Amino acid sequence: MTELLSVAPANLARAAEVIRAGGLVAFPTETVYGLGANALDLAAIQRIFVAKGRPTTDPLIVHIGARAQLDELARDVPPLAHTLAAHFWPGPLTFILAKQSHISAAITAGRSTVAVRWPAHPVAQALLCAAQTPIAAPSANRFAHPSPTTAAHVLADLDGQVDIVLDGGATGIGVESTIVDVTVTPPVILRPGGLPVEALRAVCGDVRVLDRYRAFHETAETPGQFLKHYSPRAELRLVTGDPATRVARARAAVQGALKAGQRVGLLLPGAFQPDFSDLSVIAQPLSPDPTQAARALFGALRALDATGVDLILAFDLDHRGLGLAVWDRLYRAAEGKMVMGHE
Ligand code: TXA
Ligand code: MG
Repeated sequence: MTELLSVAPANLARAAEVIRAGGLVAFPTETVYGLGANALDLAAIQRIFVAKGRPTTDPLIVHIGARAQLDELARDVPPLAHTLAAHFWPGPLTFILAKQSHISAAITAGRSTVAVRWPAHPVAQALLCAAQTPIAAPSANRFAHPSPTTAAHVLADLDGQVDIVLDGGATGIGVESTIVDVTVTPPVILRPGGLPVEALRAVCGDVRVLDRYRAFHETAETPGQFLKHYSPRAELRLVTGDPATRVARARAAVQGALKAGQRVGLLLPGAFQPDFSDLSVIAQPLSPDPTQAARALFGALRALDATGVDLILAFDLDHRGLGLAVWDRLYRAAEGKMVMGHE
């Protein structure tokens, strides 16, 4: 049985007890909802993988409630990590670091590194403080589904699989944390996310962004790089090009799909909706502003899926700021497939 609870203090205290007793608690963070378990309890960790249907080769992020806990989980923490933590923690930034030996191989998928994040959301912080233990938490969705940004999304995927869902309302950022590997120089961003690359560069200069789009296969070096990820049920394709080109390409693709008997959804800035008003499509507006687009992205994908469309055509947006994370999620949901045209 899954209990949906408000974030009243008594409920937070109960949720912390459930964590300490080896249970699973889904909770809001500033990025997306997490599916939490006591990071020091092997059986509890294993429940996470079962609940999500997640392969055990994909390691988990460990969440902490204070910066000082970093050294309890990681060793040889480079000065750069401390500098970045001082700037951006608590917040949407996850470090990859050499792990302390007591961190379970179930969390790290047998690797010598561990992912650590101190989240900024007050509910996540209260839970971490009350539980008095680090909490391992992936996003609280079924494996490869869009990440949850509301408690309702969590229930849609995991009802019956998790003991408690803490309903803290919609999450603010909407895309997962930025993951930066600080075991190498210069540091490498393994996943663009809620902390823009530009903000990281402003503090530590040289930062490489892993090109996870060309050599797209899971390797021992780069877990979590499955091309098919964050996917709605419907097939998704990205529409690129300047505005006029995008409209022309999308119209041609819509007409082709309609002719083939498919139901078509569009994910695009509202200003483009009139360009499709003569076609039988379901248009889901997504702001051209990267920060707003990030906040609404996963909910919009779930909303389109709920309409039963077969195909979603998503307009490519500005890649700056949170736009890089939005583009990354769309690209992966599309499995790299673009709409090309003859215009
Ligand atoms: O915002 C977030 O990061 C959310 C909230 C709940 O904190 N969590 C999240 O977790 O997105 P998850 O499990 O959905 O994504 C974690 C990613 C995975 O792609 C995993 O492969 C990668 O982190 N990861 C974890 N440990 C790693 C490691 N030691 N080396 C490289 N990648 C790692
Ligand atoms: Mg995830």
